[in-house]
Amino acid sequence: MELVIETNNLTKRYGALTAVNKLNLKVQRGSIHGFLGPNGAGKTTTIKIIVGLLRPDEGTVKVLGHELHGGKNEGFLQTFREQADSRLGIGYMPELPKFPKHLKGSELLDIYGRMYGMTEQQRKEQIPKLIEMVGLTGRENDLIGKYSKGMQQRIGIAQALLNSPELVILDEPSLGLDPVGMVEVRELVKNIAREGITVFVSSHLLFEVEQICTDVTIINRGTALASDTLQNVSGLLTGPAMIHVEVAQMSQNIINAVKSLPFVSNVTQTGNSLIIQVTTHEDVRTQVSKEITRAGGIIVDMSQKTSNLEDVFIQLVSKDQEGKTQ
Ligand SMILES: Nc1ncnc2c1ncn2[C@@H]1O[C@H](COP(=O)(O)OP(=O)(O)OP(=O)(O)O)[C@@H](O)[C@H]1O
Ligand SMILES: [Mg+2]
Repeated sequence: MELVIETNNLTKRYGALTAVNKLNLKVQRGSIHGFLGPNGAGKTTTIKIIVGLLRPDEGTVKVLGHELHGGKNEGFLQTFREQADSRLGIGYMPELPKFPKHLKGSELLDIYGRMYGMTEQQRKEQIPKLIEMVGLTGRENDLIGKYSKGMQQRIGIAQALLNSPELVILDEPSLGLDPVGMVEVRELVKNIAREGITVFVSSHLLFEVEQICTDVTIINRGTALASDTLQNVSGLLTGPAMIHVEVAQMSQNIINAVKSLPFVSNVTQTGNSLIIQVTTHEDVRTQVSKEITRAGGIIVDMSQKTSNLEDVFIQLVSKDQEGKTQ
């Protein structure tokens, strides 16, 4: 698999504070990679280093195959050229982007397009497409000062896609949005990935990452606590998982049958419902269902808590905090 972002022991200090601490990050081409961490974890600092706005104190960053910030032995021009090359392939939306209020949405994109060196023809073709993609058709000639927060985020995303990047980096794209706005941004991110663009998106919201990402890195105090596919990170959870089952008519036979399953550690009954504690995080609903049917039960509802990212996150971050106080 090809990596579009690779950092090695990346470290950034602000005075006595180490904001990014020996961070090793690997982002695969074609993924939607969530960069998840609580406030102050070091997400924005890392992103600014990746897009070349900040210099790290230690460590290396490779973006789209180019080493950023240059080795000490390289000439300045070589480094500069390499950086420019790699930046052309990146789209970036900063955290809470602020654009000039006196510009129309379409004017803003036109100005950015010129900065990217796009020809007038290219801008004429690309800008209306992007405006449509981010759902601002009909509002492109309104002043940005009149845009809602959601519209400002969306014009920010359009700006990040303007140069047809291979990799788009979004720093908390749904910050400050209402629930509807957040759903729209999530859909937009999925659509970007469908176009074949790799997305690296930071968030402090678990459910958001869970709903859109294929891969996730959990960061706390500048260090990655976990980094893998969403499924594998969710599977890191230790401790019991639960299955909820509702049958048409409960019987002792059913309860005994469920208790006999090797992965079942506890069963609690309330009326026609069972809460089954299991010692595995694999999906065992089929086995549970077979056993209940064999015992003469008719299942009317069943669910297993499969998305455990929140629990993993809380477990990892709180363990990390304990380490700090020891
Ligand atoms: N310019 C700066 N000078 C000094 N300290 C800074 C600076 N920028 C960030 N920090 C500190 O570095 C740490 C990491 O900040 P950063 O903004 O990277 O976190 P974040 O994960 O993006 O947080 P948030 O979710 O709040 O956006 C924080 O403790 C922050 O206070
Ligand atoms: Mg931030």
